[in-house]
Amino acid sequence: MKIGEKHYRTIWLKEDNPLIVRIIDQRYLPYDFVIEDLQTVDELVVAIKDMHVRGAGLIGAAAGFGMYLAAINAPKKGFEKFIQDSGNQIIATRPTAVNLIWAVKRQLKLINKVSSCQNKIEVALKTAQKIADEDAEYCKNIGKHGVKIIEDLSVKKNGNTVNILTHCNAGSLAFVDYGSATAPIYEAFERGITLHVWVDETRPRNQGARLTAWELNEYQVPHTVISDNTGGHLMQHGLVDMVIVGTDRTTYTGDVANKIGTYLKALAAKDNNIPFYVALPSTTFDWEMKDGLKEISIEERGEREVKYIEGFIDGKIKEVLLTPKESRCVNYAFDVTPARLVTGFITERGICEANEQSILAMFPEHKPRPFRLQPFN
Ligand code: MRU
Repeated sequence: MKIGEKHYRTIWLKEDNPLIVRIIDQRYLPYDFVIEDLQTVDELVVAIKDMHVRGAGLIGAAAGFGMYLAAINAPKKGFEKFIQDSGNQIIATRPTAVNLIWAVKRQLKLINKVSSCQNKIEVALKTAQKIADEDAEYCKNIGKHGVKIIEDLSVKKNGNTVNILTHCNAGSLAFVDYGSATAPIYEAFERGITLHVWVDETRPRNQGARLTAWELNEYQVPHTVISDNTGGHLMQHGLVDMVIVGTDRTTYTGDVANKIGTYLKALAAKDNNIPFYVALPSTTFDWEMKDGLKEISIEERGEREVKYIEGFIDGKIKEVLLTPKESRCVNYAFDVTPARLVTGFITERGICEANEQSILAMFPEHKPRPFRLQPFN
């Protein structure tokens, strides 16, 4: 991703010490740019749980590097148990994004195939890097496919501004690079298409106001931050041409789990005949889940994130109380948008419809396995 004149990924190995994994600590954005060094599984687990890193693709990549940290820190005696326990610990950090469990399973499968500790470490490193490289490549391809939708809208509007609404942050910061929802936007902007992005602030953690807005500023893409309740009004007045969001887990039948509030945007888009696209790498499809509402586990986070709001004052990030101190708050982090409200999926292979047949035609190597096997006991 572009930060000033430099290109960064959101996770990488320290240049002069490959035993250290580096991340951009997103808790400080947009006020400060902080890089954090991680050396142990425990540190990585905290980084995912407390959202120093977040977003489906990035926590998948972080899980991949976490398994590498597990391998380099594992004792020779009890190596396998340490790796297995570390995998369980990483999976337990956040329940909704499927990339997390997918990356740990991929690592375990390959690490278990070789026998010496040294070989296991080498495999874990290679796999972590491969997961990260693939994530970046898939997002780049999502941009190449998704840009066609924006180009068509631009032609339809005789070159007038294409207005795109997005929710939360499914940008470069949510992946290793480029982002899913933002990749077509960046590609269109680079091709000179006139566009503007409506950025939902995305309470309670404000990933839109803080992260998406920061990213779009870095890329110099025209945008406006709006409060979460504004989208419907804009749609009714012809000020939104399309919606693009990301997803944390999508069933093979097309039900989409994404940041809380996505469902309401999809309903408003449907009511106003506005295309509602979900951009995702194939790693975010769950090939075992059929019914998103019944089966996807929705993370519930602490009430403090709702009760207090965080901002920047006197050179420091501070929290202020928002509600009466006594009021109870509840904090569901995601909701499920049923497939019937989704116009299409923008994937690394192309665009498909939000139904089982179309998704499986795009990814025929994935046979749905509706019975969820519990890999770790
Ligand atoms: O809770 P987060 O910030 O990890 O949630 C992830 C998200 O940012 C969104 O739901 C996003 O749109 C999908 S992640 C690519």
